[in-house]
Amino acid sequence: MSVKSNVVTLSLCLLIISAPAFADEATETEGLPETFAASAERGKAQFQAICAHCHTTTYEESRIGAPGLKGVLERHSETWLNQWLKSPEEFAQKDVAARDLIDANTFGLAMPTLPAMQDEHNRLDIIEYLKTLKE
Ligand code: HEC
Repeated sequence: MSVKSNVVTLSLCLLIISAPAFADEATETEGLPETFAASAERGKAQFQAICAHCHTTTYEESRIGAPGLKGVLERHSETWLNQWLKSPEEFAQKDVAARDLIDANTFGLAMPTLPAMQDEHNRLDIIEYLKTLKE
């Protein structure tokens, strides 16, 4: 057998061995959820029910020391917000900006981990609404 045909045989074997790996990848991709269409309208309703107790939608800090959320997307990325909203305290264990934000609060009432924010769809709706709070 020549060296060339050995190489061809080896390549064929590799193709056969790696084929199932390709098949697995295809199945995993199929399992991913469809892209979620976030709604600023749903987000606004949630904001008024949950967040407005503590936050204003202006630049003004509220009476309990929660930052006004106007222009908040200029201060934080969507990824940052998604993690903050899920659990501020847990996120602050790995994110310096989140830690600083909590440490800078002199009022003593930190933002709690909210049950409604454990649902990613709710978080994406809220973020969609926060995007509308610009000048
Ligand atoms: C009990 C009061 C309270 C509630 C309810 C609350 N927050 Fe907060 N939030 C705070 C406080 C206080 C901070 C400042 C950081 C800290 O001390 O935890 C904060 C910080 C934030 C920040 C960072 C703001 C910035 O300028 O960096 C965002 C964004 C935010 N909250 C969004 C929300 C959203 C959206 C909701 C509703 C799902 C919500 N918060 C519910 C009190 C609250």
